[in-house]
Amino acid sequence: MRKVINSLVVETSGKQSNQAIVFIHGFPFDHTMWENQVNVFKKNYYCVAYDIRGLGASYVGDAQYTMQAFVADLFSIISGLNLKNPIICGLSMGGYIALRAVELNQNIFKALILCDTKADADTDSAKLARSEKINQINVDGLEVFIDEFVPNCFCDEFIKEKSKIVFEVIAKAKSLNPLGVKGSLLAMMTRTSTSDYLKNIIIPTLAVCGSFDTLTPTTVMRNMAEQIPYCEFAVAPRAGHLAPLENPEFVNDAIGGFLKKIGVGF
Ligand code: MLT
Repeated sequence: MRKVINSLVVETSGKQSNQAIVFIHGFPFDHTMWENQVNVFKKNYYCVAYDIRGLGASYVGDAQYTMQAFVADLFSIISGLNLKNPIICGLSMGGYIALRAVELNQNIFKALILCDTKADADTDSAKLARSEKINQINVDGLEVFIDEFVPNCFCDEFIKEKSKIVFEVIAKAKSLNPLGVKGSLLAMMTRTSTSDYLKNIIIPTLAVCGSFDTLTPTTVMRNMAEQIPYCEFAVAPRAGHLAPLENPEFVNDAIGGFLKKIGVGF
């Protein structure tokens, strides 16, 4: 069921009385990247997947976004839907949002699931690269940026075997509002590091990384996972930076197994 909360488009599936899982997508995508998870988990969970401000069908506004504002949006959805101890599951930029939300108030969450993400803030060179990307969108247009950026999110095997899906994801990314895309780059560029907080996370955590992820490689994610006291780490074979989309069977099994272990499984 589609709802609009705080000018954000929120898609809910499953019974509202079930344990909630909130899915937060990566950049530059929208909530549909979680389709393979929602279709499976909606049987037993209340699945909430939303479009981050400026992306998908959510309101763009002035595009002066910060990670802090993205987290405030997440909290507004949690209170708007009256979710009790939801599990949050974020991929890449969605993971940055989830980690900052946990740093702010982990007590409201049952568990944390991190996919293809990291806790560190952008280095100076990464910040400069973000500036270049904003400039590229201004000068050459969004399509050029997407054609360069999005294919790097997939592993070679997926591009070869599932070219139709890759094409669809690229086409959808090209239809985003360039202002919203640039605003997301600004929010990622100015975000703070959550690395120092990792050791304080007391909620159960699962970290999943695609074996061929070049944006947030397995070494980086493993290192992050090792700093979180109760964190299970899994490497998804045949996947790049979009493991839930590229290898949904593996990721769904990992999530399902984790949920059983923490006492909310089926
Ligand atoms: C994402 O997938 O959300 C982005 O690649 C994250 C980033 O650029 O840091």
